[in-house]
Amino acid sequence: MIAPSLLAADFARLADEAAAVAGEPGQGADWLHVDVMDAHFVPNLTIGLPVVEALYKTTNIPLDCHLMIDAPDRWAVGYAEAGAHNVTVHVEAARDPVALAADLRAAGALAGLSVKPGTPLEPHLDTLRHYDTLLVMSVEPGFGGQRFIPEVLDKVRTARRLVDTGHLRVLLEIDGGINTDTVEAAAEAGVDCFVAGSAVYGASDPARAVAQLRERVRAVAPHRGWTG
Ligand code: DX5
Ligand code: ZN
Repeated sequence: MIAPSLLAADFARLADEAAAVAGEPGQGADWLHVDVMDAHFVPNLTIGLPVVEALYKTTNIPLDCHLMIDAPDRWAVGYAEAGAHNVTVHVEAARDPVALAADLRAAGALAGLSVKPGTPLEPHLDTLRHYDTLLVMSVEPGFGGQRFIPEVLDKVRTARRLVDTGHLRVLLEIDGGINTDTVEAAAEAGVDCFVAGSAVYGASDPARAVAQLRERVRAVAPHRGWTG
């Protein structure tokens, strides 16, 4: 799955930018990644709930909301209620991530848990059993256009092994610095869903950039597909 990140899109034309990655049936974006930043959990400030509500009305692409905010226990459910398909919170910010996952699911969304590059997986494995998706950050959250940190692929490999042996049931997502140079290593490590901001919206044809990323993934991991 490919999830273009609107962080690299033109914020004055979000509906058009969503349409630009829809592509041909079966070819376009699988999810649309929406980066919510509060200038507290991360230094940057982006968009919030009203924009997600508006986006939901303008696109059929499932919204993948990545909340880089403090107090997700208080705010995340609103994004599920606004129609987001997957709502991801940071384990470093959540107070009661198990209860939060239940609340997100009750509100009709998938529950996602994200780890920053320096956050190990092991202490959070029990928590992860309550989640549907795991978002491994491959840059420090806060800004697009940063360089991919290959060391995080160890966490992807660990999670992949746990999923493949039936010990964990999550979709594995990666976010940060994904482009045609880095996507293959991530695919080989076992990623299911690739978030890409500048590699998609920095291209002259965003839909074609999505298709190119998918071709690279298929070349190295032809049999993998999310079946959840
Ligand atoms: C960074 C965001 C990413 C960002 C990725 O904090 O979470 O989703 O859009 O951008 P690129 O693909 O340019 O690294
Ligand atoms: Zn993101």
